[in-house]
Amino acid sequence: MIKILLIHGPNLGLLGRREPKIYGHETQEDLLERVRRECTPEKYEVELVQSNHEGVVLDVLNQLVRDFHAGSSPVGGILINAGAWTHTSIALRDALSMVQETGLPVIEIHLSNTAARETFRHMSMVAPVVTGCVAGLGAAGYTAAARAIIELIQANSKHRSKR
Ligand code: DQA
Repeated sequence: MIKILLIHGPNLGLLGRREPKIYGHETQEDLLERVRRECTPEKYEVELVQSNHEGVVLDVLNQLVRDFHAGSSPVGGILINAGAWTHTSIALRDALSMVQETGLPVIEIHLSNTAARETFRHMSMVAPVVTGCVAGLGAAGYTAAARAIIELIQANSKHRSKR
């Protein structure tokens, strides 16, 4: 079983109620369901990690890197909407940089088009250390990101088995 982590940063646990004009009406459980729908259940398991505490997310990523080096990580790829940490967190960027070194695909997601909003949202700390980004497509972005992560995981495993 290959695990796909869907990581949600601060305030995303309230999606559905939180500023629906900007973030839409789907809850994070709806978004999780969207991702699961794209994944063959016999092959992929999607786990949601939502926290308002940065250290919790850093611990998850650190453990993943540790497990990867021990050859025991079930994680094949990560979807992350880091919320406001996107624009502020050097620690999250450093953790994702370690993940990048493992070769695991990571997709950054934003419901809103951050480039079209306040200038403080234009800069993403994490963008340089992820595989790619989906922003501004609302909930549909989660479906697109789920399809993309599966392709990337498959390409990754072909690449690994050739080595
Ligand atoms: C967000 C955009 C961020 O700027 C904001 O802080 C969020 C949500 C989005 O999904 O559009 O919490 O990541």
